[in-house]
Amino acid sequence: MSANAEPALSDFARVVEPFRVMDILDRAQAAERAGRDIIHLEVGEPDFVTPREVVAAGEVALAAGETRYTPAHGRENLRRVIADDYRERHGAEVDPDRVVVTSGASAGILLALAAGVNPGEEVLLPDPGYACNRQFVAARGARPKPLVVSPEDGWQPTPEAVAAAWSEQTRAVLLASPANPTGTCLPRETLAEIVAVVEARGGLVIMDEIYGQLVFGEPERSAVALHPNVVVINSFSKYFAMTGWRLGWMVVPPSWIDPVRRLAQNLFVAPSSVAQAAAMFAFRPDTEAELQQRVRELERRRDVLLEALPDLGLVVRARPQGAFYIYADCSAHGEDSEALCARILDQAGVALTPGTDFSPADGARHLRIAYTHGEERLREAVERLRGVLA
Ligand SMILES: Cc1ncc(COP(=O)(O)O)c(C=O)c1O
Repeated sequence: MSANAEPALSDFARVVEPFRVMDILDRAQAAERAGRDIIHLEVGEPDFVTPREVVAAGEVALAAGETRYTPAHGRENLRRVIADDYRERHGAEVDPDRVVVTSGASAGILLALAAGVNPGEEVLLPDPGYACNRQFVAARGARPKPLVVSPEDGWQPTPEAVAAAWSEQTRAVLLASPANPTGTCLPRETLAEIVAVVEARGGLVIMDEIYGQLVFGEPERSAVALHPNVVVINSFSKYFAMTGWRLGWMVVPPSWIDPVRRLAQNLFVAPSSVAQAAAMFAFRPDTEAELQQRVRELERRRDVLLEALPDLGLVVRARPQGAFYIYADCSAHGEDSEALCARILDQAGVALTPGTDFSPADGARHLRIAYTHGEERLREAVERLRGVLA
């Protein structure tokens, strides 16, 4: 290396893909700085604020100087509250020691992969699916293997597809219900069959339940109730509207408690102390009532869009049942989704995410709409889209 040469990048850093939604957000914000009114339907973050009681508890903790490291796997009282919630909401007995508090679902997924997957092994990932998962797997030195899912199966994998995709090198499958970007759920019976397929092969099921409480209609039962070997990932980000607090949790099999704690100690030292103190109040009945109203509000927003999209040439092939996303086929417009989203942002001032973030297989034909604004603003977005697309 000559004196002025910059350090070489790793192979991973050279090839890591952008999380395109953040690129779109940058462009949208630049347009706003130039004075344009942009309707943001790109980032997975609704307009809801963190519940009042939670914010107040965070303020109290800050004022009381609760700003030091906590145990790497989280405060005991928070892990207990989370375990209690599994009993009350899902009828599942979970030993609080199996709960590991993390810096968001992101850290939970990284810990699960660090604990359960070796470099060079394969991890099955539904395609379309959450964009960062491919990069999480690659960061572990493992290989993401796409499991292409179809709208006929509700954009979720079938047990047969998991069995067919499983090879000697496959170690794990990472699922989500409701899923991002499709908002579709994985029926519990299907999940149970997938767990059986994976167990028979000595593999690992990682179940991302970050949108598990954001379901319209019958609430979903956690996979925690299904099988103690499923590694469950969750987060305060979405249902509790705490994206910026960076707090989540995972539930691990009993034999993983000690190794995951050791991994968490080394990789993250501890999750945010203030966020943990605040999150103690996230499961209170008043907060829960407020959050349930938000779920109903999201359902109304979904319905506004589902009614409007066909006229705009945006085809929704499987009905979203939760989260706050709609994944629509935009191929009728004859442009790939990145070009189309760029044009929509320029001409209509509406920011959407191209499907290429979520699907190497077919993302060029799809885009994701995150219904992160109230009905009035959504209707305005629809009118603006009509001007460009109809
Ligand atoms: C499916 C899924 N998993 C994980 C994450 C990351 O969440 P967190 O903010 O808790 O790290 C997201 C964020 O959008 C997501 O959609």
